[in-house]
Amino acid sequence: MPERVLTNADLERMVETSDEWIVTRSGIRERRIAAEGQTTTDLALPAAVQAMERAGVTAQDLDLIVFCTNNPDTFIPAGACHLQGKLGAARAGTFDLIAGCSGFIYGLAVAAQFAASRTYLTILVVGADILSRLVDWTDRGTCVLFGDAAGAAVVRPAPDGRGIISFRLGCEGSKRGEIVVPAGGASLPASHETVDRRLHYIKMNGRETFRFAVTAIDQVAREVLDAAGYSPEDVTLMVPHQANLRIIEAAAKRLSIPMERVMVNIDRYGNTSAATVPVALYEAEEAGRLKRDDLVLLVGFGAGLTYAGMLIRW
Ligand code: ACO
Repeated sequence: MPERVLTNADLERMVETSDEWIVTRSGIRERRIAAEGQTTTDLALPAAVQAMERAGVTAQDLDLIVFCTNNPDTFIPAGACHLQGKLGAARAGTFDLIAGCSGFIYGLAVAAQFAASRTYLTILVVGADILSRLVDWTDRGTCVLFGDAAGAAVVRPAPDGRGIISFRLGCEGSKRGEIVVPAGGASLPASHETVDRRLHYIKMNGRETFRFAVTAIDQVAREVLDAAGYSPEDVTLMVPHQANLRIIEAAAKRLSIPMERVMVNIDRYGNTSAATVPVALYEAEEAGRLKRDDLVLLVGFGAGLTYAGMLIRW
């Protein structure tokens, strides 16, 4: 987590909004914002080092780094190359994975395939984003929602029936226009005009994304549970992407999972995109909410519109 805290009271001084509106519509009270000059891999590095220490592996042990982000340090080279260089993980192949806020679950699924086939035995998966640099700080409809963060996990082969036991990755590309940064890519290269028109910032159709999210979480959760022979009441802890407390509550209600069995930390961090799920998992474990053999359900959705679900036997 970057150190700087931006509260709803701070935002009241920046745009026409109120603490009351932000809390009732999103559940967010404050978020962290990266310092000037701090890059996405600057946030990712300590998270990666901590995950590797907990797993008892060194940078030299890493076979692969999957760097899940929407805003890497640079697009050429990939953000993953910056992280590999900073870690000194000389043996590791590495690439960026862009799947909106579903990115970390996508990354875990990719890593799990290499581990299950024993192609690679030690894989670092990072979810890191600095969306504060893609947010239009004059657009109250988006700037109150996002924050910056990073989280990481080391994925290794697990005995049958443990670790990742089912997953599902999806996307409704027909809805690709609902969350978009219009300029800066091949379709609309950067120019004075694109900058003047503020087209390098996130544009989001909040209402449509909200509707999509509630349905997608419900469906993808049931799919991964069905695939492994479980039902929602078997879930010990649901760890959802943290985009909006109302989305989380609506999805949990549809699944009949009581909120006591849902991990929520959006009040302190807002939507940190690819970092929400690893940060929430970390905080759940630190709080003693994850025990051996627990059934943990990860669900995410985001720009794409992508969605993803995963079931883990902890
Ligand atoms: N402060 C005060 N008023 C505001 C603010 C604000 N910050 N933002 C919007 N409003 C106003 C709107 O202008 C609108 O006013 P109007 O009725 O006069 O037009 C009113 O509040 C209601 O706006 P809605 O958009 O209907 O509000 P809603 O209840 O849908 O909440 C929100 C908006 C929070 C954006 C919600 O739709 C949401 O969370 N959607 C999902 C977003 C999401 O999950 N994104 C995740 C993916 S991001 C990624 O992948 C990178």
